[in-house]
Amino acid sequence: MNALAKSLGDAPGLSPRELQSQIQSALPAQGKARDLHLPLANYASVDALIAELKPTEPIFSISAAKLREAAQSFQTFPGRALYAVKCNPHPFVLETLFRAGITDFDVASLDEVRLIDGMFGTAAGQFFNNPAKTRPAIRIASEMHKIRFYTADCFEEIDKIIQETGDREDLVIAVRLATRGADARYVLSTKFGAQPNEATKMLRYIEQRKIKAGISFHVGSQCLAASAFANAVELAGAVADKAGISLSVLNVGGGFPAPYPGDDIVDREHYFGNVFRGMQEIGLPRGCIVLCEPGRGLVATAGTTIVQVVMRRDRNLFLNDGVFGTLQELGHPKERRPVRVVRDGVRTPGRNVDFKIYGPTCDSNDVLGAPFNLPEDIREGDWIEIGMMGAYSLSMRTHFNGFFADHVVSVGN
Ligand SMILES: Cc1ncc(COP(=O)(O)O)c(C=O)c1O
Repeated sequence: MNALAKSLGDAPGLSPRELQSQIQSALPAQGKARDLHLPLANYASVDALIAELKPTEPIFSISAAKLREAAQSFQTFPGRALYAVKCNPHPFVLETLFRAGITDFDVASLDEVRLIDGMFGTAAGQFFNNPAKTRPAIRIASEMHKIRFYTADCFEEIDKIIQETGDREDLVIAVRLATRGADARYVLSTKFGAQPNEATKMLRYIEQRKIKAGISFHVGSQCLAASAFANAVELAGAVADKAGISLSVLNVGGGFPAPYPGDDIVDREHYFGNVFRGMQEIGLPRGCIVLCEPGRGLVATAGTTIVQVVMRRDRNLFLNDGVFGTLQELGHPKERRPVRVVRDGVRTPGRNVDFKIYGPTCDSNDVLGAPFNLPEDIREGDWIEIGMMGAYSLSMRTHFNGFFADHVVSVGN
């Protein structure tokens, strides 16, 4: 049985703090992850990589040190942090996070379930938090991978989970609650999430079936207002109160922002403080497990895309990667990243100007939403290092037009 599910069963009488520490020690000890030591070519720095490879295809580099730093930053979260695999499922990322103490994963598909099980076996906890799952995916996740944590945002999905898992006593179903999305760049509550009145009924429905009930939400990705977390926790508390049920799990989701240029964000502690403030306001029942499931907040700073200028036409640059590759998110006009030009030789001193950036495919949509501010004399053959690309980059690539950025390396320690 999944250790978290077991701790829930054993929970009566334990305070949330005692329970959290019980979980912290129980889960990693449950099994031993396979010693993977994934082979990934390593370079001292991006400059060293470019000097050695002079790459004409895009390269994606991952910094293990930055991943460890991000994992460390979640140690003060007032609960347990899972990693949302969808954000960057590269095995090097997963293994590095796992070794840094992020041993639980939010999974959205059977492929993600199999990936995590294949890499870590029972040493990892898995939470199947996609609110719309196929029946075979639930059945296989339950029977073969022993997943006990599921999320739903409608009665039909709750029934489906119960039918396909066989209504087991260790099952936990969280109701995904819609939250106000105004503070986030990517609002997720327009697709998933029950309104408070419906969520109230669903919680009762779950508890009437003697299944442990929880609430989850996602305030939206790249959430720029820390107070959104306190508000959402308070809403969750009000819904649980109205339902008259005792919450077994409160999952505050992802949304913790990355420090992209132009985004004025407060530090992570402030976000955690808001979660904690909300928890205190609503007075969580004893034994309720508090979770978060960041993606971007754990991996954004650890990835870099290294591209080459294929063609310059006036103030337009055509690169060898674009929105159908690792730069998908940069199609959004508010998305900015730190950029730096690397040239083989001496650059003439000059000012920086804005360039419109196009990707390599023939589609007119293959254009970035915001310009890059780069040296005026940039030319064909120059390389551009695009930083903070760890999130929703590798996982969003397509093979469109025959382009596929698939050269992944690590930089630094
Ligand atoms: C259910 C769920 N959890 C977590 C995440 C990760 O969110 P973020 O990358 O904003 O932290 C997502 C992103 O789509 C999600 O859908």
